[in-house]
Amino acid sequence: MSVRHSGNGHPDSSRDSIEINLDEIISSVGDRPDSLMPLLHAVQDRLGYVPPDAVPSIARALNLSRAEVHGVISFYHDFRTEPPGHSIVRVCRAESCQAMGAVELAAHIQKRLGIEFGQTSADGGYTLEPVYCLGNCACSPAIVVGDDLHGRVTSERFDEIISAISPRGREAR
Ligand code: FES
Repeated sequence: MSVRHSGNGHPDSSRDSIEINLDEIISSVGDRPDSLMPLLHAVQDRLGYVPPDAVPSIARALNLSRAEVHGVISFYHDFRTEPPGHSIVRVCRAESCQAMGAVELAAHIQKRLGIEFGQTSADGGYTLEPVYCLGNCACSPAIVVGDDLHGRVTSERFDEIISAISPRGREAR
């Protein structure tokens, strides 16, 4: 049983035609109904999101209804149902960071990337997501760009980070 997705819809996507083998994932996480969360995380780890058309296969494999699988995906905001952008920017919106300028920083980031939280830029370059504590409160405000955690981020520092990660970053204004 496999799930194929067709990339993030952008012609230059390097993620086109990624195929995952659900049987392989199930062999590692199990096929009981309580395997749903680890299975969904494994799918998202591989594809960047959980394709809606994978729901019937997942439900069948774990002996759940489609509604049960869909309900879990929609309840937990960690799960995406659409392909993310090339770089995922996560901005901490929890208390410590809020107290140290995260509100202003978030406004700057949204303006700089031209998107709001939960959105992906039109060119597929960035997805902006909120998080609620990154465990880096001593260095608030904190963000994660890709796999990299950054602390004490100012608007200027954010611009430097974005400009450094890819040519797309330099284009984002
Ligand atoms: S509150 Fe932002 S890292 Fe903890």
